[in-house]
Amino acid sequence: MKKERIKAIVLGCGNRGTAYCKAAEDVGDPYEIVAAVDFRDEALEFMQKRFGVPKDMCFKDYKEVLKFGKIADCVINTTMDNYHVETAVAFMEQGYDMLLEKPVANNKDDLLKVAEKARENGCKLVVCHVLRYTPFYKKAKALIEEGAIGEVVHIDACEYPGVLLTDFSFIRGQWKNKDECGSTFLLAKACHDIDLVCWLNNSTKPLYVSSFGGRRFIVPEKAPEGAADNCFECKHSETCIYSVGYNSVRIKTIWGILPEGGAEEELRNLKNNKEKSRCAYKTNANIVDNQAVMIEFENGSMATFRLLSSGMPEVRNLFVKGTNGEIEGCLQKNKLVLRKYIVKTGEHEEIEYDLTDENVFKAHHGGDEDLITDFNAYMRNEESSFSTPVIDDTIAGYLCVYATDKAMENKEIVKINMD
Ligand SMILES: NC(=O)c1ccc[n+]([C@@H]2O[C@H](COP(=O)([O-])OP(=O)(O)OC[C@H]3O[C@@H](n4cnc5c(N)ncnc54)[C@H](O)[C@@H]3O)[C@@H](O)[C@H]2O)c1
Repeated sequence: MKKERIKAIVLGCGNRGTAYCKAAEDVGDPYEIVAAVDFRDEALEFMQKRFGVPKDMCFKDYKEVLKFGKIADCVINTTMDNYHVETAVAFMEQGYDMLLEKPVANNKDDLLKVAEKARENGCKLVVCHVLRYTPFYKKAKALIEEGAIGEVVHIDACEYPGVLLTDFSFIRGQWKNKDECGSTFLLAKACHDIDLVCWLNNSTKPLYVSSFGGRRFIVPEKAPEGAADNCFECKHSETCIYSVGYNSVRIKTIWGILPEGGAEEELRNLKNNKEKSRCAYKTNANIVDNQAVMIEFENGSMATFRLLSSGMPEVRNLFVKGTNGEIEGCLQKNKLVLRKYIVKTGEHEEIEYDLTDENVFKAHHGGDEDLITDFNAYMRNEESSFSTPVIDDTIAGYLCVYATDKAMENKEIVKINMD
């Protein structure tokens, strides 16, 4: 029997909002999008053309939609970071279930307010921690859960977003300045990784964190000798790793978001945009470019994590040491190794898991689609997966992120208060 479509309101119809709508189509469970909200006319026009949203149900201000009362089953909240709390609270007060983009909030009070609102109004609230759905992290979680490595002793993880993403989002993009977007680098980029660490080790809770970091390498003093203020006027534009023309065309080609006129139009736009084409070392970016994190958990296990801008290549590595074995792998290679010690021979048995499937080449290594499949099941009260990042299950990770940034700022050890 054909299922009734889930009625959804899309708040924020940019990359993520449209990606989730497309993912729902791709998994055969498309939404009926009854209203769309975005500041930008072209985003609303796209929602009309591509997803059939009625023109008179497209709005620039989310408060216009609230006036109708509850007109959908859920809200897909893919607004920018600093609007998540305000919009999530407003719609949950009307009883809407919600798929909410990360980060939920940029401080503990707001995070707990959102979680409390969901509880108070009986709303299903799922946070878009898509990496929990990738075959790589699902396998790591399953191995830990089935006791394959004994008790977790230490998790060591890292994330080095490659040059292209660093340049696009964190040097010239909307997450470059924490005062403008409301998120630090750790919160914007690695709330996923800290969520994963806490999820993989969720038989205990984080207790203390310490951290070092800063912005010391992508700063004016480190610009190549004689660098111009504008990338297109710079003698280093053929050799600098932050050459905006090359980087922007390349990442937009990979993501399929070049303007209609292709690379030429993109270069023209960049040349006309003095802000976007400013030397990477001289922007108003103020997030860190290098941060190391240590977490101690209540049961004595630990985690270490490194977030470094501009990795070559882009990498997320994971090593989990257990009392009776270890697992190690790289997300980008879709491979995990389980290692066990064999007492009788003194050798190490290695089982390699190749986790490549047809989905891993899709957005977020297949995470977007699987998140949507799972959210749809959760909305329909069908069986959802062990990955589901329901709000209460993400709190430990966010508290770690806030505490970690505080620890780094103040050069102190910060105790995490889970109450
Ligand atoms: N889960 C992930 O892996 C992942 C990946 C990338 C981005 N994100 C998060 O998703 C969110 C959206 O990112 P994006 O890449 O889609 O950005 P985007 O700029 O492409 O899209 C955001 C859209 O929301 C609109 N918007 C923002 N606030 C609004 C408001 N209050 N009212 C109306 N319209 C509003 C903007 O005009 C824009 O069109 C961010 O919070 C980001 O951190 C998550």
